[in-house]
Amino acid sequence: MPATSMDQLVSLCKRRGFIFPGSEIYGGLQGTYDFGPLGVELKNNLKKAWWRANVYERDDMEGLDASILMNHWTWKYSGHEDTFVDPMVDCRACKSRWRADQVKNGRCEKCGSADLTEPRPFNMMFRTMVGPVADEDSYAYLRPETAQGIFVNFKNVVDSTGRRLPFGIAQIGKSFRNEITPRNFIFRVREFEQMEIEYFVRPGDDEMWHRRWVEDRINWWTTLGLSRDNLRIYEVPAGELAHYSKATVDVMYKYPIGWEEIEGIANRTDFDLGSHSKNQDTLELHAHVMKNEHSTAKLTIPDPETNKPIVPYVIEPSAGVDRGVLALLCEAYDEETLPNGETRTVLRLKPSMSPIKAAVVPLKRNAPEIVDACKAIKRDLQCTGEMRVVYEDTGNIGKAYRRHDEVGTPYCITVDFETLENKTVTIRDRDTMAQIRLPIDEVYDYLKKGIAETFTRCES
Ligand code: GAP
Repeated sequence: MPATSMDQLVSLCKRRGFIFPGSEIYGGLQGTYDFGPLGVELKNNLKKAWWRANVYERDDMEGLDASILMNHWTWKYSGHEDTFVDPMVDCRACKSRWRADQVKNGRCEKCGSADLTEPRPFNMMFRTMVGPVADEDSYAYLRPETAQGIFVNFKNVVDSTGRRLPFGIAQIGKSFRNEITPRNFIFRVREFEQMEIEYFVRPGDDEMWHRRWVEDRINWWTTLGLSRDNLRIYEVPAGELAHYSKATVDVMYKYPIGWEEIEGIANRTDFDLGSHSKNQDTLELHAHVMKNEHSTAKLTIPDPETNKPIVPYVIEPSAGVDRGVLALLCEAYDEETLPNGETRTVLRLKPSMSPIKAAVVPLKRNAPEIVDACKAIKRDLQCTGEMRVVYEDTGNIGKAYRRHDEVGTPYCITVDFETLENKTVTIRDRDTMAQIRLPIDEVYDYLKKGIAETFTRCES
């Protein structure tokens, strides 16, 4: 039985060290979560798989890691200062605030009053000061998308790599949005991570590339273990498009809260690069040009057909790491009834996503030779640097298996007295619970095969 409510996951995540509420000992900070010992492994596995598929396995991609803090003019010219807003209403009765498009039946979610203000725009960017002197120009924003770090570095990347169209720049990093109503666990938070690609193409080729990326991205999510039945696309209607988008297709996942966006794939045209390379006439209208505070860069690249400089169009697959982690957990969560009537909770994560790849378990915790053999096996596997392996001696062997089923560990390696005689161990499979006996020196190859990444060649 898969997860039917977010509460089941929230409880498992807290109990077993995947995800904790942020700043919990001080009463928390709404819209923030911390990834615990197992959560950070799962998240890293997801990010590594994305980087591998989109950077290492392609010939047309470069990576980047830009600053979170950027010159505030970036956000003026990207359009975010003026338009990155959500409509907000106040409840006059209890003074709470809500996102107008999420208010149900015109009533306050907290007190039920219908006495709400008219919606007004609320800018979601977090503003902060840079440096010790607070003057009118020393402010900056925590970036609300990683994308602008890519656009402002477009020329640096082209000049340093000699790239020609089509090609992309990939980046994973934190983004911040002062969401009016963060909710649904890590689905809508104020600090999150994005995995974004800006894929630059010749104007005219953009629609073809848009279609290819939508298909490619859906396929990629299935390679991580998300069922195709739980993924679908949503063509964003013209009236709901972001200010920079000509067309956007959202990849939706069937979370326990319903179908919701896990990734957006937008055709941003030449909006951003064009805006950051404003022509001199426009700049001279602005007093700040004298202080050289504007981009005067021409963010162009030769047209592959005419060789004339053009501002390329861009297709942007933009995925949320946190929403990806949540989808992997939702998909993997299972409760099954065993023949003896007990309920077994098991996270059926793809082994490549599992936080721990194998647990080495002693049949007897107080037999020194068995414990020593366990630790030697754990050390040899861990030393390869390829997998997280733990020594597990809490509780009896049955409890150790259940504990690891619940966090998605695909293999438990059990050391018993026979191990001491003939150097063999048993390996228990998480999903089938079947056990096989193997020589110790074959364990590494066996695990390696079981946890191997699925390579997803994206044709470019
Ligand atoms: N650069 C384009 C962009 O940022 P977006 O649709 O606003 O587009 C892309 O965001 C992805 O970032 C979303 O599909 C979602 O996975 C993730 N995301 C956006 N806001 C989020 C939030 N408040 N909490 C968690 N993830 C979020």
